[in-house]
Amino acid sequence: MVLLLGLLLTGGLYTAFSPAQADTSASDEELVQQGRELFLVNCSFCHGQNGEGVRTVDGDQLGPSLVGVGAAAVDFQVGTGRMPMAQPGAQVPRKPVSFSDEETAAMAAFVASLGPGPAIPDESDYSIEGMSAEEREAAIARGGQIFLTNCTACHNFTGSGGAMPRGGYAPRILDVEPRYVYEALLSGPQSMPTFSNGNLSPDEKRDVIAYLQSLRDDPAYGGFGMGGLGPVAEGMYAWIAGIGLLVGFAVWIAAHTTRTSKEKVES
Ligand code: HEC
Ligand code: HEC
Repeated sequence: MVLLLGLLLTGGLYTAFSPAQADTSASDEELVQQGRELFLVNCSFCHGQNGEGVRTVDGDQLGPSLVGVGAAAVDFQVGTGRMPMAQPGAQVPRKPVSFSDEETAAMAAFVASLGPGPAIPDESDYSIEGMSAEEREAAIARGGQIFLTNCTACHNFTGSGGAMPRGGYAPRILDVEPRYVYEALLSGPQSMPTFSNGNLSPDEKRDVIAYLQSLRDDPAYGGFGMGGLGPVAEGMYAWIAGIGLLVGFAVWIAAHTTRTSKEKVES
């Protein structure tokens, strides 16, 4: 009896849990197939038919291998319009997105099938909507510290971007959607380092997102912000424009005193 009951129980549990999985894997396969077709038409020229990467005759990379970059990288690159890349250059900038969400998801599934890599994050990973006011304050404080130590070197203190070697630049990141911030951290586009979940936990990533949002919402308290370019640029401005103006003014005063005008009259 016990054996029979046990068998029934395992069988019942199995049927209760397995169908959902079987269903998704069937539709996953369809998605991968659809993604492969899109990939062959739009991406294989640079990334190879199986995403293995393509080298030019001189040994340069036409497109890197996509094995193991994961669905998150595709969602980021295609979702921000960076891919398909229009022309080779120092920077792969954002441009209008050329694929629908479904097409992007299909290509992401295809690239994910090539090798294990970071998956597209769930909304609960990056959304800061559900936080209470205190939680948000705390997240902003923690995120600020993470941002100051890890991101300001390239993206500037206010997240407004900066120049990079070899003609590239780190873009302004204040208006980037939370999902793409998260995916940029996961995939490390171009010369940006990768902040995997082992490096920067999902909670810490969300703290950074909260901080970026607070920077964007921060009201400007008047004055000339100069784009928050940092102490060097601001100091240079003070020296050249500020001190320059004062020196000019001093020379002007010196040239217009009674003494100078008297001397002119006498001679
Ligand atoms: C070594 C320099 C460097 C560091 C450090 C760095 N980034 Fe970046 N980041 C870049 C570059 C370069 C790009 C542009 C990549 C591209 O256009 O493909 C970029 C792109 C991004 C984007 C995508 C912007 C967009 O327009 O879609 C986000 C978001 C981002 N970075 C956030 C961060 C955060 C948050 C940190 C810190 C945890 C960080 N970055 C650290 C260099 C850096
Ligand atoms: C004209 C050539 C070209 C085409 C077409 C192209 N790519 Fe790329 N792709 C590149 C290059 C070059 C890079 C490397 C950019 C860099 O990071 O400096 C890249 C990078 C990527 C990355 C980031 C890899 C990583 O390590 O994070 C992904 C993902 C990607 N491409 C997906 C696609 C998809 C999907 C398509 C088709 C919709 C596509 N690409 C079309 C040239 C191309």
